[in-house]
Amino acid sequence: MKVTIIGGGGRVGSNAAFALQCAGLVSEIQILDANQDMAEGEALDLLHGASVLGDQRIYAGDYDRAKDTNVFVITAGLRRKPDESRLDLINRNVSLFKTILQSIQSAGYKKCAQFFVVSNPVDILTHLAASTLDVDPSQVYGLGTMLDTARFRSLIADELKLPTSQVKALILGEHGDTMVPIWSSATAAGLPLKGYPGVSPNFENATFKRTQGSGAEVIRRKGGAGWAVGATIAETVHSVLLDKKQVLPVSSVQKGCYGIRDISLSVPTIVGKGGIEGHIEIELWPKERQGLVNSANTLKETFAKVI
Ligand code: 2OP
Repeated sequence: MKVTIIGGGGRVGSNAAFALQCAGLVSEIQILDANQDMAEGEALDLLHGASVLGDQRIYAGDYDRAKDTNVFVITAGLRRKPDESRLDLINRNVSLFKTILQSIQSAGYKKCAQFFVVSNPVDILTHLAASTLDVDPSQVYGLGTMLDTARFRSLIADELKLPTSQVKALILGEHGDTMVPIWSSATAAGLPLKGYPGVSPNFENATFKRTQGSGAEVIRRKGGAGWAVGATIAETVHSVLLDKKQVLPVSSVQKGCYGIRDISLSVPTIVGKGGIEGHIEIELWPKERQGLVNSANTLKETFAKVI
């Protein structure tokens, strides 16, 4: 599988490239960036490690060389300021994103190519890509609340002194201020999280609040996310590559799940070789379901401003 990372000269894109290289599953990684020097530099740095990490072909390229890409990963975008919401980013990143889509379309791409959006506001840009590109909506998806879910699980496990692999908890909806914690199906070591020692309403509120603010916290402390977002990008790509059909909270065009249509956000989604292979409407508490509807309404209002 060939992956082209558009924005690969930046922190998110280069960390995604490194996560893919360490896993050794994709065969080819092309780094593409408006800053050609950074693209060449990241590709060279990754290439230097290839003799240790594996035999993938890694290079800096351009849109013409990206025509045979299987999965385009789009991470390019300006970073949010600590006190800025993701949706505030919208005007600055939408015009850049439209330019990227035009460049991909002008150079050409495989009919079966898939488009994986990471740039923020990711749900808006995912929907814009699905509305713009001449491919089936199943071939377009966004990182959505994958990173939020990873953070949520890790922070819960850290607080409860549990192995992170033993905590299962979802964040759904918007990758942004209206994201929804799904406590109803959260488990620790296979047991309902609700009854687990140390779990209380205060614990739940504090952990979700920290999860919701994690993007801004990482920006404040180190300038922006990298390692965890790279890991969740790689996990999604591998679910496609290996046709794992994992149920992941990626963002995609909704067709009625929880009564939501015509906007992209994260619900439990089957991710396999065809990209988006289905949505699963797991039972939620009424307030969780309402939270998803609220996410959808917020995103629809915002998307209407974009067009
Ligand atoms: C974050 O939450 C990059 O939006 C991403 O850090």
